[in-house]
Amino acid sequence: MPGIVIVGTQWGDEGKGKIVDLLAERARMAVRFQGGNNAGHTLVVDGKKFISHLIPSGILQKKTCVLGNGMVVDPAELIREMDELESMGIAVTPDNLLVSDRAHLIMPYHKAVDIARECLRGGTKIGTTGRGIGPCYEDKAGRRGIRFVDLLNPNTFRERVHAAAGEKNHLLSGYLKAAPVNPDEIIGEYLEYAKRLAPYVKDTAVLVEEAAAQGANILFEGAQGTHLDIDHGTVPFVTSSNTVAGNACAGSGVGPRRVNGVLGIVKAYTTRVGRGPFPTELFDEVGDRIQRVGAEFGATTGRRRRCGWLDMVQLKASVRLNGLTGFCVTKLDVLDGLSELSICTAYTHKGETLREFPADLEVLAGCVPVYETHPGWDTPTVDAQDFNALPASARAYLRRVEELMGIPLQIVSTGPGRTQTMELQDVFGGV
Ligand code: GDP
Ligand code: IMO
Ligand code: MG
Repeated sequence: MPGIVIVGTQWGDEGKGKIVDLLAERARMAVRFQGGNNAGHTLVVDGKKFISHLIPSGILQKKTCVLGNGMVVDPAELIREMDELESMGIAVTPDNLLVSDRAHLIMPYHKAVDIARECLRGGTKIGTTGRGIGPCYEDKAGRRGIRFVDLLNPNTFRERVHAAAGEKNHLLSGYLKAAPVNPDEIIGEYLEYAKRLAPYVKDTAVLVEEAAAQGANILFEGAQGTHLDIDHGTVPFVTSSNTVAGNACAGSGVGPRRVNGVLGIVKAYTTRVGRGPFPTELFDEVGDRIQRVGAEFGATTGRRRRCGWLDMVQLKASVRLNGLTGFCVTKLDVLDGLSELSICTAYTHKGETLREFPADLEVLAGCVPVYETHPGWDTPTVDAQDFNALPASARAYLRRVEELMGIPLQIVSTGPGRTQTMELQDVFGGV
């Protein structure tokens, strides 16, 4: 009967989508509980690629996919994704796609404000995805947001858009020096979306609870990564939602007793898109090689991802912040052929040893990683099906990471496809 939360343990793009797709075969539901189309989860099935930005990665397994109340949803992007899936022969119906009536709508002015603010920040910009995520969550917290339930009520919707546009246009054309938005155009556009999306909009918290009460396996799919969390990440270089596992409950509307396990996804090295501190970042040919071999380009914005060694200070914090019960290592194959690998086990800062991520970014920027080094391996790990078939140094690297994490290694991924995965423990069975 488990509810399993799947979260990224680093700065996103750990391969959450691939693992949710894989595990969804044994689940009834996949529920996203935060974020919006800032996420980009790449799924590769039978050589075909699909990038989901909003729809949970269980959709290719034809499972019930829920966009939870904690999400911020751009309806145009949702419709685009639905159409793309249909064109791939995946039926998207109100039976397998449910959108929370309480989820907030990303409006054109959210995107305009996101982009204009970043321009104004110049050299101090965050490097957001420009999808309007932050401004939409600001309106949610400011109790000015517009929800799907409002979209379905044209009178309320018109009123809300006019009220919002008054304030946003003041901000856009005044402080941000950007073009104002036209509320009537927005209303016309969004009421068309409403016609298409209305059948999918439901009180999803009730439906998720119903499935949980019936003992169904449910996956709660995290987006972004633990260190992009609005409270626990490297503020201000973070996203605007809680990405940690605790938010699976608030963001989908079930109580904590519905969560039975938390699987942390760990990329075998570290990447980051956008700005912000990254103590183990590599600026040499090893970093370039990892970037090239791992094809580390953002799935949402196409930006080159920064690459570096595995960072146990970061990962230990993720074990603690999410209450991880197990972890999965992805992209092990990208490290094939490196003569030596490093794992950061602590930082030094002004002669002091630090074992926790400091809140002060100036301190973090001055941290020097303490590394232990491990021998690499030449034999390719791609496609390996059995842990014992991995090269001895790859096994030793993984077991060392497991020892440092202090929780069981449950899955190892050595390629983007479903079959390029080995399960050491049954994620559903262990709870
Ligand atoms: P997510 O946002 O956490 O779902 O991750 P992304 O999809 O943004 O980035 C992970 C990328 O790595 C995708 O292109 C996946 O297809 C790919 N990938 C996932 N697991 C593996 C793996 O084990 N090996 C390799 N080579 N690629 C992988
Ligand atoms: P997935 O789910 C990696 C980063 C952006 C930027 C910061 C804030 O694919 O792992 P935002 O648009 O959210 O306000 O941008 O967060 N970011 C991600 N980085 N993977 C993601 O999602 C991300 N979603 C946001 O690059 O640094
Ligand atoms: Mg991604």
